[in-house]
Amino acid sequence: MSQTTPSSSRVIVVGGGLAGLSAAHTVLERGGTVTVLDKKPSFGGNSVKASSGINGADTPAQRALDIKDSVKDFIADTTISAGDLARPQLIETLTSNSAPALEWLSTSFSVDLSLVSRLGGHAIPRTHRGKGGAPGWAMTSALIKKLEKAAAETPEKATLVKGAKVVGLVREGERVTGVEYQVGEKTERVTGTVILSTGGYAADFSSTGFLSSYRPDLLELPTTNGDHSTGDGHRLATSVSASLIDMDQVQVHPTGFIDPANPDAKTKFLAAEALRGVGGLLVDGKGRRFVNEVERRDFVTEKMQEVIAAGDGPVRLILNEESYQELKAHCDFYISKGLMKSFANVAELAQTTGVSGAQLRETFTSHGEYASGKQPDPFGKQHFRNSTYDTETPIYVALMTPVVHYTMGGISISPTAQVLDASGKPIAGLFAAGEVIGGVHGKNRLGGSSLLEAVVFGRVAGESASK
Ligand code: FAD
Ligand code: SIN
Repeated sequence: MSQTTPSSSRVIVVGGGLAGLSAAHTVLERGGTVTVLDKKPSFGGNSVKASSGINGADTPAQRALDIKDSVKDFIADTTISAGDLARPQLIETLTSNSAPALEWLSTSFSVDLSLVSRLGGHAIPRTHRGKGGAPGWAMTSALIKKLEKAAAETPEKATLVKGAKVVGLVREGERVTGVEYQVGEKTERVTGTVILSTGGYAADFSSTGFLSSYRPDLLELPTTNGDHSTGDGHRLATSVSASLIDMDQVQVHPTGFIDPANPDAKTKFLAAEALRGVGGLLVDGKGRRFVNEVERRDFVTEKMQEVIAAGDGPVRLILNEESYQELKAHCDFYISKGLMKSFANVAELAQTTGVSGAQLRETFTSHGEYASGKQPDPFGKQHFRNSTYDTETPIYVALMTPVVHYTMGGISISPTAQVLDASGKPIAGLFAAGEVIGGVHGKNRLGGSSLLEAVVFGRVAGESASK
């Protein structure tokens, strides 16, 4: 085993997704020294794939669009969504730091967050993205670029090691003092305060994995997550007596794409919730709506599963031209992958798929009446967007399946990101941030709140570890 130079003032960040990147930059901003280790050949994790955006309350972008929001409103939505597992202190940290987190991304990394949309469960539009590519890519690539620049210009301050799987925590007495990691055949050790930011366990499907232990009912579902999402940080933390909470709380997202060319693939592309936010409709195999498309995702998933179990599938997502235009870059990507298909009109869809053209006509007409307020939507939809669906103009259609997407459970932390043991006592030298932490979202995470969790708690962990 070789030994890298020990440095007690070093902060070691395990995992180079958005949480780890945010933590690493915060350490550098505080004048510290940081080593970032990631088991994959590149940084980014699931963060790079994020497609809908990041939440913020009372932001300049909202004000520019005349959207009135407040931390209080964001707390209310998050608390309702979290149900009886809501933890007020963690929700307060998440929400009250949201506008500063977005400002940090905009000012320190020039990330464009000028567009704002409403995702399910939010009373107010507060999910921010930019005009360019997908928001996850925009954020992570900007943070990675700046970190790589720092590592190149000041290697004594920032060390980045890719393909480095952390396999153990080092302790002196009760204090965590470093990590052991594997690069190729070699095992290395580095000394410092540790931040775990290894993401969740939504791809941990093995027979000894967390999904088998806590949610065996989900083993047959596909996942949106990269194969790194195997709960490594959770296991590292419990090896030093950290407590895990809410581990059975796993989010199933309603809309994963079924690829007609590979319908049984275990890993699916996510159909961003933003597609429903811009007006996309969900219909059953006959062409009937069955849910308020912009309800909370746990509710939409439940309704979809009822449709599928009753033999009324498959479920399709349908966008009209206006919705398509509003998320054109996303849709063109899905079309290029063969996941979404355009049809000249409803008749063409009916001919090729067996969906009832007459039923779809009726669905479109009644949806228009609900949107114009002539009648209330029987499914309770109140926020309509791009709501005119015409049977004679192009539509964009995709097959949908529920997908394991995010793990609400994880490492128990304090509001300052210290890892806690079963008695609630902080474990010295160990912090955690991002999806690896548990309890922030209780029973159900709101769309857009994980990127926020990554940035907010990444910054909190970076600051705490720097002290
Ligand atoms: P990750 O980004 O997953 O990064 C974890 C990193 O840790 C990885 O790079 C991994 O390789 C590394 N790692 C793991 N184990 C080890 C180890 N033993 N040693 C070293 N490195 C290790 N959330 C939103 O808020 N808005 C969205 O629009 C959105 N869209 C999404 C779309 C998709 C397709 C997916 C999958 C998720 C989406 N999410 C979204 C959720 C969100 O992207 C993630 O929850 C969030 O990015 C997690 O960030 P993280 O930094 O905690 O983990
Ligand atoms: C999505 O784009 O639907 C995912 C958003 C999220 O997970 O927050």
